[in-house]
Amino acid sequence: MNILDQHNRPLRDLRISVTDRCNFRCHYCMPAEVFGPNYEFLKKNMLLSFEEITRLAKLFRKRAGIKKLRITGGEPLMRRDLPVLISQLSSIEGIEDIAMTTNGSLLPKFADQLKNAGLDRVTISLDTLDDERFKKINGRDVSVETVLKGIEAAKAAGLSIKMNMVVQKGVNDEDIIPMAKYFRQQGHILRFIEYMDVGNSNGWKMDDVFSKKEIINRINDVMPIEPIQPNYTGEVATRYRYVDSDDEIGIISSVTDAFCSACNRSRLSAEGKLYTCLFSVKGHDLRGPLRNGYSDEEMMNLIDNIWSHRTDRYSEERTHHTKRKTKVEMSHIGG
Ligand code: GTP
Ligand code: 5AD
Ligand code: SF4
Ligand code: SF4
Repeated sequence: MNILDQHNRPLRDLRISVTDRCNFRCHYCMPAEVFGPNYEFLKKNMLLSFEEITRLAKLFRKRAGIKKLRITGGEPLMRRDLPVLISQLSSIEGIEDIAMTTNGSLLPKFADQLKNAGLDRVTISLDTLDDERFKKINGRDVSVETVLKGIEAAKAAGLSIKMNMVVQKGVNDEDIIPMAKYFRQQGHILRFIEYMDVGNSNGWKMDDVFSKKEIINRINDVMPIEPIQPNYTGEVATRYRYVDSDDEIGIISSVTDAFCSACNRSRLSAEGKLYTCLFSVKGHDLRGPLRNGYSDEEMMNLIDNIWSHRTDRYSEERTHHTKRKTKVEMSHIGG
């Protein structure tokens, strides 16, 4: 049932982007200068339907034995009727865990419906607790309070919650301690993400990265931490806990300490292309075959063929090809 790639990495995890749209314009992901009023987002008929997504998820389950799904965007809650998709996915036999990565702003409206449909977990992005800085980062004047209300709604609905903070040197590194203290007190795991050179539009420079080492030192000085074992092979966050407690944080160090050797993730874009790496230049079209009447067997052979030829290890090789052009945008494959 395992499919292995060229470096013997099994396919374990399917991340499904349901829309390329977002109600935020974070400058590191969808800068407003690029994603402006004239930007052409995917048209409705280009998007995979819920039935097409569910069929693919079933085939990934059947052919590769995947048990975990993650819904991403853009902002996944911008896709109309998302809870309907969640209920279709949660009824697939053998799918044990469905998570969603979201900016949190629409959770007050949808958290209950999502939970009832079978969503298990949400990962909510928030880069600072400082309102002025947050408004600058999200590019749409959204207040911190809006996201905090989303977190509250997710908690009230009974969803498990993790937090993601992208750390950029000189932009929000001073927020590391306030964020760590706040989410420790709230009882939610906070993960610090090194700023990455995803997509083509964020003007990334190595100097903008606040490294894992720097993050650890910054926290250790105030609240001592120690490493703990991963939950599962291929977990992207390295886990730490505050000494003398069970409170936990994570650090995602894809720039200074890459984790490609255990990478078992595949990413399906909203228009049905399968990407075998976050930094892929090109995806493999699954929508065409789906709409051209491929049988389940033919679709599974296609997936098998794509994964078994996979050689990606971009982050481990980053320094050799940071000049590589026209990578897929983060808002197409959800991070
Ligand atoms: P869990 O299932 O809770 O362990 O979630 P996760 O850590 O897979 O979830 P999440 O989607 O929140 O991942 C956090 C962030 O880490 C993503 O948004 C990306 O920024 C980054 N990331 C995740 N997977 C990869 C990967 O395979 N490669 C790289 N370079 N970065 C990744
Ligand atoms: N570097 C690191 N993380 C990023 N994200 C978006 N763009 C980047 C980037 N350039 C994060 C978001 C969210 C997740 C989907 O990926 O903040 O938490
Ligand atoms: Fe939207 Fe998330 Fe990208 Fe920000 S990081 S623009 S919230 S998809
Ligand atoms: Fe996986 Fe590509 Fe990220 Fe490496 S850079 S961990 S291969 S997604």
